[in-house]
Amino acid sequence: MVDYIGIERVRELVARVGTGRFIAGLATEIESDYRRWREFEKSPRHASHSPVGVIELMPTSDGRQYSFKYVNGHPKNTAAGLLTVTAFGVLADVDTGYPLLLSELTFSTALRTAATSALAARWMARPSSAVMALIGNGAQSEFQAIAFHHMLGIRELRLHDTDPRATTKLERNLAALQLGGLRVVRCASAAEAARGSDIVTTVTADKCNAIILTPAMIEPGMHLNAIGGDCPGKTELHADILRRRDARVVVEYEPQSRVEGEIQQLDASFPVIEFSDVVSGKTAGRTNELEVTIFDSVGFALEDFSTLRYLHRMHMEQRGAQHRIDLVPHLDDPKNLFAALVGTSGQAQRPVPQRSMREGMNA
Ligand SMILES: NC(=O)c1ccc[n+]([C@@H]2O[C@H](COP(=O)([O-])OP(=O)(O)OC[C@H]3O[C@@H](n4cnc5c(N)ncnc54)[C@H](O)[C@@H]3O)[C@@H](O)[C@H]2O)c1
Repeated sequence: MVDYIGIERVRELVARVGTGRFIAGLATEIESDYRRWREFEKSPRHASHSPVGVIELMPTSDGRQYSFKYVNGHPKNTAAGLLTVTAFGVLADVDTGYPLLLSELTFSTALRTAATSALAARWMARPSSAVMALIGNGAQSEFQAIAFHHMLGIRELRLHDTDPRATTKLERNLAALQLGGLRVVRCASAAEAARGSDIVTTVTADKCNAIILTPAMIEPGMHLNAIGGDCPGKTELHADILRRRDARVVVEYEPQSRVEGEIQQLDASFPVIEFSDVVSGKTAGRTNELEVTIFDSVGFALEDFSTLRYLHRMHMEQRGAQHRIDLVPHLDDPKNLFAALVGTSGQAQRPVPQRSMREGMNA
């Protein structure tokens, strides 16, 4: 039997500790995996593009466990009442190759992206940061808001979205959460949201080279958390922001980010820092108060590996039979797979009539 975490189970696991604490715990897990970066097998994700979206596979392994995530990105979906991003994934044992866990990863991608964003900001933003602009108020936005409030102590959120209904939804959800001491300000433009902010998070969805932030909106010392540009031809920052002399650009995994991140707009020789070098202390996330730090995030497989392992551990602490599925057959004789299918040689789960057996043999 293989452990299974579906939608209901994730709700239970998150509710048990609360969303903020869940995200903070996950950030610790992701950080410790980034510290052992060298142990991971790394490759840019495999992307299958269509004119309207992308379907991606994201594998990695630390030699003991293996994981992959299936994830899509279809910005047009919300107009039809569907999510832009959905995902699921598998954690497996490298020694036997057997899957250990099949899990939903739609909620979990939002949770891990928020955890990674807040973790990066802890290393890169000014420690005094208290005000954040949140531009793009769709599915990911509450998770970002909770993570930055919980992990960085953000006290003012400045919201903007081209769809006013998305901002109204976010305002309503934040009001219901009653996050201690948080002031929420609705802004008419990205420029208004960014003005005076210590951190600017862009989490918009559009399958194009969008310009959400222009050079004029950037103030000395800001930290930019650019999440929505995560595919070839899909960016959020004007390239001149990256080219600023005082800019410090951090990416997750350089070979993938060169193709998918904001830096796809620049020459391959443009200098970037990998996040693993920041968390290991090899390079500073920020060197002074006036530097403009940019986390050019696209999402890397290691973050999903950490998430699957974190979920699996929580799941096993309170596992019930209803949380397992028969994804892999269990055999008395591992060479007699066929009998387990058609039900002979004492391996039958239920008796199979002779006729079915003959049909099986003829197949
Ligand atoms: N980096 C990562 O690890 C990571 C992880 C998950 C999602 N993402 C990306 O984050 C983005 C947001 O995902 P989501 O699930 O919240 O999508 P969503 O479709 O639910 O929300 C996106 C929001 O952006 C708004 N928007 C679009 N263009 C805008 C503009 N020019 N100015 C302001 N707002 C604008 C839309 O109205 C919408 O409300 C997507 O592009 C997705 O691919 C990245």
